[in-house]
Amino acid sequence: MVTLRTQVGIIGAGPAGLTLAHLLHLQGIESVVLERQSREHVETRVRAGVLEQGTVEILIGSGVGERLQREGLQHRGVQLRFDGKSHRIDFQELVGRSITVYAQQEVVKDLIAARIGYHEPIFFEAEATQVADFDAQPRVRYQQDGASHEIACDFIAGCDGFHGICRPAIPAAALKIHERHYPFAWLGILARVAPASEELIYTYHERGFALLSMRSPEVSRLYVQCDPGEDVNHWPDDRIWEELRTRMATRDGFVLKDGPILQKGITPMRSFVAEPMQAGRLFLLGDAAHIVPPTGAKGLNLAVADVRVLTRGLVEFYKSKKRDALQQYGERCLRRIWKAQRFSAWMTSMLHRFPNEDDFSHGIHLAELDYVTSSRAASTTLAENYVGLPFDTPGLF
Ligand code: FAD
Ligand code: PHB
Repeated sequence: MVTLRTQVGIIGAGPAGLTLAHLLHLQGIESVVLERQSREHVETRVRAGVLEQGTVEILIGSGVGERLQREGLQHRGVQLRFDGKSHRIDFQELVGRSITVYAQQEVVKDLIAARIGYHEPIFFEAEATQVADFDAQPRVRYQQDGASHEIACDFIAGCDGFHGICRPAIPAAALKIHERHYPFAWLGILARVAPASEELIYTYHERGFALLSMRSPEVSRLYVQCDPGEDVNHWPDDRIWEELRTRMATRDGFVLKDGPILQKGITPMRSFVAEPMQAGRLFLLGDAAHIVPPTGAKGLNLAVADVRVLTRGLVEFYKSKKRDALQQYGERCLRRIWKAQRFSAWMTSMLHRFPNEDDFSHGIHLAELDYVTSSRAASTTLAENYVGLPFDTPGLF
């Protein structure tokens, strides 16, 4: 078995692993990235679409934002729709910031191209099977082309998503898990049709939540609330469009044109936090440590925020051998994570129809939406959280 030596062994080439590898490279810190899927698979996986301004600034500031600046769609607000009417939350006017719609797989493509461009190691179809000795001399074992390999490193970055191997490698007694499951899921589609609105529309309807988003001037991304155990085969294209039209209808005749559906999938909704996000020299980042329901559009942004904190800690360690920032890694990340959890849970409960919801709950739902869209204080709260709360530690980019 060949053993490779590096400073940071990174497991997972999603937004967390790739951004970390990139920022470390710019700081002169070596890493090896392992990804169990093929390059094509990760570059075409349809996931998030909304980037906070802080995320955009990190990508641009670190030199991978050229296409993002050209192709990303800057949005100055969103619409909340209920009772047949749309209400605009104007981020720019309320908090002076905005968001950018740019698909996660495009961020992933840009980061992979950068990594390959400067010839740093990234292995696809290389599955990490074990992380060991992370209290002293960390090692990562992995399988590639049917053979076993090993990486010896100073630190392991567990960027391997919710179903990865890093979180389960930490003894259960050393982790506290906080979890909530929601009694609904999202059925998401990507369709070749011009978006019916320039801005995202979050809709609350008696039949359930619906969301209109987009990927480009020609491609729409839409979601409808469905049952968590739903089989996607029970949702032929006509049924999806019909349901979207019913939920998104307005009294002034909103028109939703359909088009060929390019991709269809069901996403369960959960909130999850594993504390303290680190054990010895193993750090968890992004979905490996936390999941938010997608209603607040926070998942990818939180992954990048974790990377920002860990990069600072590793730079401090390699420059001065100080471990303070590394030791505070989880604590620093968790302050932001819990606020994003709070915001995502609030958006989720405000915009979804719960099973057995009675008239009283429906009345409260409408009153809350009415309040949020008519009170400047409440709209500002939504806007401030949606565009991304300020970072409370200085960044390197
Ligand atoms: P992942 O993207 O899951 O990457 C983990 C990587 O690790 C994967 O490539 C996986 O193949 C690899 N891996 C796993 N195990 C191993 C192993 N043993 N060895 C090697 N590699 C391994 N977030 C937002 O901010 N805004 C949104 O609008 C938004 N919308 C969403 C919509 C949907 C439908 C979904 C599903 C998610 C959405 N999210 C959104 C969440 C966002 O996609 C995730 O939070 C984000 O992907 C997290 O990045 P990550 O790098 O932590 O994990
Ligand atoms: C998306 O475009 O995929 C998207 C947008 C907003 C969300 C979730 C997903 O809250």
